[in-house]
Amino acid sequence: MCEALLRGGTPEPPDEHVIFERIASGLAEHGFCVLDQALPGDVIEGLAERVRALSAAAFHAAAVGREQDQMQNAFIRRDEIRWIEGEEASEQAWLAWSGRMQTYLNRRLFLGLFSFECHFAHYPPGAFYKRHVDAFRGEANRILTTVLYLNPGWTTDDGGEMLLYPEEGDDEPRRIRPQLGTLAVFLSEAFPHEVLPARCDRFSIAGWFRLNASTAGRVDPPR
Ligand code: OGA
Ligand code: MN
Repeated sequence: MCEALLRGGTPEPPDEHVIFERIASGLAEHGFCVLDQALPGDVIEGLAERVRALSAAAFHAAAVGREQDQMQNAFIRRDEIRWIEGEEASEQAWLAWSGRMQTYLNRRLFLGLFSFECHFAHYPPGAFYKRHVDAFRGEANRILTTVLYLNPGWTTDDGGEMLLYPEEGDDEPRRIRPQLGTLAVFLSEAFPHEVLPARCDRFSIAGWFRLNASTAGRVDPPR
């Protein structure tokens, strides 16, 4: 059930500026935006191939915060990650696209986004990421979260949905299926979220735009 073709049939998105404007207006009105097909099919398919071609040895268990308590980590999250440095064509296309989105959002919403960091994530069957926020108020680090999904033919039975909770109130969370090409963008401080256990190998790219938090004598580390 978990196998699907990586190439072909990925629909083409509208023009890039149309996509960026949808993301900007979604952020301005609701603080988040979810799009089915945000990037060109060849970039999406290239990334889906790339993440599968990287050997398991290229990934390492994801950590939580700065403390490296493995027991604690395994309770909170079970995914494996690999930071993206732009070593290959699809990674470069993704980083370039994210850079153009950064420019657009800064002009349109004055967000002051300064840098972007992102990693591939692999959730083996059974892996999850418990409810969390990506940034804490006042720490002024991560401003905007992006998650791009890389799983063709993913069905509801495969699990692995991301639940995006409203900041306040008892409203039902929004459920996001990690289907190939789907992109979620949300304000990092405002939305607690979690990843439900997946039944198949689940691949994604999680990314964060940050402010420039460097001050004299302390250079903001990229991650
Ligand atoms: C994260 C995260 C969500 C997802 O890496 O911080 O919440 O759906 N990822 O992969
Ligand atoms: Mn998160």
